[in-house]
This record gives sequence, C-alpha cells and structure tokens, in this order.
Amino acid sequence: MPQPPAGDLDQSFGRQRVTADVRRRRIRDVFDAVAPRYDLMNDLMSFGIHRLWKRTLARRCRDAVGPVVDLAGGTGDVARLLADGARRVIVCDPSLPMMQEGRRRDAADVTWLAGEAERLPFADGSVGLLTVSFGLRNATRLDAALAEIHRVLKPGGRFVCLEFSRPHWWLAPFYDLYSYLVIPRLGAAVARAPVAYQYLIESIRRFPNQKDFAGLIAATGFTAVRWENVSFGIAALHFGERPDGG
Ligand SMILES: C[S@@+](CC[C@H](N)C(=O)[O-])C[C@H]1O[C@@H](n2cnc3c(N)ncnc32)[C@H](O)[C@@H]1O
Repeated sequence: MPQPPAGDLDQSFGRQRVTADVRRRRIRDVFDAVAPRYDLMNDLMSFGIHRLWKRTLARRCRDAVGPVVDLAGGTGDVARLLADGARRVIVCDPSLPMMQEGRRRDAADVTWLAGEAERLPFADGSVGLLTVSFGLRNATRLDAALAEIHRVLKPGGRFVCLEFSRPHWWLAPFYDLYSYLVIPRLGAAVARAPVAYQYLIESIRRFPNQKDFAGLIAATGFTAVRWENVSFGIAALHFGERPDGG
C-alpha cells in the first residue's frame, strides 16, 4: 500500500476522503464506542501479547526521571506499569470513556487528563519521560504531534513510542490474512464495532514503517533515535531524546 506523505495522516477515514477535523471526530467516536470492550479486544486480538510488549516498554523506561506522561494512555495499561509509588504518571487522552474505564481499576499512582497529541496540555520543557503506546497513529498530523512531544520534554527528556509497524517478510502474508479476515470479524462479534476495527487495520497500514518513522523523529530534532522490533516487527519501540539546548 502506498505510504502517505511524511507526517501527514489526515487524508481519509475508511474509504472516504475527509477533512482533518472530521477524521479527528470519527477517531474520537471510535474510541468512545469501544471503550467498555477495549481491553478485552486487545487481549483477544493479540492473544495477550500486547501485555508483553507494554512490559518491555516499561522496562526500557525504568531509569527515566519524571514527570512521566503516557500520551494516548487510554485505559491506563502502560501508566500502571510505569507508576511505582515513587513516581506518578499522567495519562493524557482525548477520550473520556477510555479514561473512565481505566479509573475503575487500581490506579492509585495515575492522574487522568484530557488532551490530544497535537495540542499537549503541558508547559514547554516540563516532562521528563513521555511514552505513547498504540496512540500516535491516531494523530491527524504526525509531524505536529512529534513537535508537541519535543516541545514539552525537558532537555535530556526521553520519548518512547510503541506502535504497530512492519513485520518481517516471511510473517507478512500470515499477518495480512489475520488482519483482514479475523480482526474485523472479532471487532463485530465482541466489540460490536466492525467500523472501529476496520479503522484499526487501516490506521496500522497507513503509519510509516520503522525506518521512515525514525526519520520523522530525527527530523523533529530528537537525538539518540533508534528502534527495536518486538514480535518480528509486528510492533516496534521507537526511542528519542530531546537534546540539551535542543
Ligand atoms: C489504541 S488506543 C491505545 C490505548 C493505550 N495506550 C494502550 O496501549 O492500550 C489509542 C488511544 O489514542 C487516543 N487518541 C485518539 N486520538 C488521539 C490524539 N489525537 N491524540 C492523543 N490520543 C489520541 C484514543 O482515545 C485511545 O485511547
């Protein structure tokens, strides 16, 4: 499938071409609608493997200093792993229903804040670690979101992103079959939201691959940019740092 121009993810929703504003609202509707079954669907679709990926992310962040923000934090999976009594984690997400689901669980060290990637509700240079897990592909403009993340990080602050990516060539045909045949049906049967899970597949395909995304992160001004595949590239962890004086 052809890649969108770098940084620009706002061209369509489903088969329709829509404006960035309409796309933003539809994405919001998707997550508001699936919130009650979001965690169950994640476990079913990934056979629970998303939990291992999130634990890997949390391990890579162990020595990072706060304040810690988990952007697009949804129901707080990653925030709960990052919070450890000594540090609080702020979940920042535009979907109130997703955050409400998360608040029902044990989340004593988590603060919930409404906000979106393109306009982060944090002061310049105020965040020590910003994580995003399966959230950036929902931003209407990826370059604007990355610029915001760079703005709010302190010099020396770290950015860690877990996102679906491009699997190894030998896995790709099986992964495609699974994505196109199984996931929309699961979405219809379990979450009763086939459109939402169709959107999920499309948004994964439209997100830049490992190398292109790393290029975008570097072009934003981050240093120490690298990535690490998980599960043979089905997903990847991306890393960057805001340089001192950068
Ligand atoms: C697939 S969920 C990921 C939730 C959680 N991080 C996880 O890994 O389970 C995507 C999240 O992105 C949020 N989201 C949608 N548009 C966003 C935007 N423009 N900026 C930040 N978050 C957004 C949704 O509300 C949703 O909670």
